[in-house]
Amino acid sequence: MATWQICGSCGERLSEMDPATRCPCGGLLEIQHDRPMEDGISLRRLFEERWGQHGDLDRSGVWRYRELVLPSAAGQAVSHPEGNTPLIRRTAVAEWSGLPELMLKHEGHNPTGSFKDRGMTVGVTQARRIDAAAVACASTGNTSASLAAYAAQAGLTALVFVPAGQVALGKLSQSLAYGARTLLVRGDFDACLRLVQEASTRLGVYLVNSINPFRLEGQKTIVLELLHQLRWHSPDWIVLPAGNLGNTAAFGKALREAHAWGLIERIPRLAAVQAAGAGPFAAAFAEHFARRLTVKAETIATAIKIGDPASWDRAVRSIRETNGVVTSVTDGEILEAKAVIDAAGVGCEPASAASVAGARQLVQRGVIQRGERVVAVLTGHVLKDPGALITYHQETEPPPARANRPVEIEADLREVERVLRGSR
Ligand code: F0G
Repeated sequence: MATWQICGSCGERLSEMDPATRCPCGGLLEIQHDRPMEDGISLRRLFEERWGQHGDLDRSGVWRYRELVLPSAAGQAVSHPEGNTPLIRRTAVAEWSGLPELMLKHEGHNPTGSFKDRGMTVGVTQARRIDAAAVACASTGNTSASLAAYAAQAGLTALVFVPAGQVALGKLSQSLAYGARTLLVRGDFDACLRLVQEASTRLGVYLVNSINPFRLEGQKTIVLELLHQLRWHSPDWIVLPAGNLGNTAAFGKALREAHAWGLIERIPRLAAVQAAGAGPFAAAFAEHFARRLTVKAETIATAIKIGDPASWDRAVRSIRETNGVVTSVTDGEILEAKAVIDAAGVGCEPASAASVAGARQLVQRGVIQRGERVVAVLTGHVLKDPGALITYHQETEPPPARANRPVEIEADLREVERVLRGSR
């Protein structure tokens, strides 16, 4: 079974082992695989047999689907393992969103606490295959945490570019802990991305941002795994937060291939949700993608604080091919959704809650019907952004409706009693 890279702009074909992360024409590359030898039924059986096996590859929720990810690299995979994230139902979240059939695919259960590990296991595997001396990324925090961990495992030098003062504490701590050379760039994410691309061309470091097509092959498995968990009965909608648009691109590709190769009979619709202050893709959708837009991004959801998304064209294709929609939600809506998800005992970081906030809004607008089966993807763990939690619960004045204020007391039983009576 062969794999190659193809340019989305000019159609140029590059070999699987070509170390370029962009086409010489400047276009973004895409991975293409030959159709697997197995038909859909055999592939489903194969994936089911692997689930629960003890082998290193089968235990990974990425490499379990290796025929659709990167078949030739399977023997060399740098795997934690990753994936195997739960698909969960919580009544409180379902009721709040207006969707009784809502399911949450919680990618915060990955080894470094976000979906980025699924792409990074493939990106770092490829970096090692092409003998990269060093790997680099620009990040709002999760990609860098993930790269730092996988580069450490692979024994590669990692260089991460993050916007100074704008990265959530949990994420920055991870990058330092796992040993990445961490550059706090005085600028926003979009500036970091420009700089790292320049560094990769001029200084020869291998770029593993989601521009890198190998990353997207791994991220496709969020969709493959959730379809597998649903016994390959497609939901009506998959809702996800959108920033740099790598995931939106990967989800569309996963659905296109799963359908073409007989794994599913029907393609679910994608709903990509941006933050209102960082919503160029949502604004462009409203005008039928007539233009590519950029904004100066501002949102509390720092993970998706991106004004000039890189995977634009690929993501447009995903939305068009799935009859999808793009919308945006305010920071207030994100924080309320997050408080509901957190209080249900699930928890997620602010950007992740955009998916549930978006689902609720789309129900209210009549775009999603109440009875439809919807999977909302929670992209990162609740502990990624402790700062946002403390501000919301402990510091914001007046307290938001769902704030859970801590109470400081003397070491005296009467005070405990008073608190207990007050909370009844
Ligand atoms: N949710 C979380 C928690 C993220 O970290 C990101 C992106 C997204 C959603 C959006 O995904 O960019 O593929 O549209 N984080 C990147 C990073 C930008 O650097 O960690 P996207």
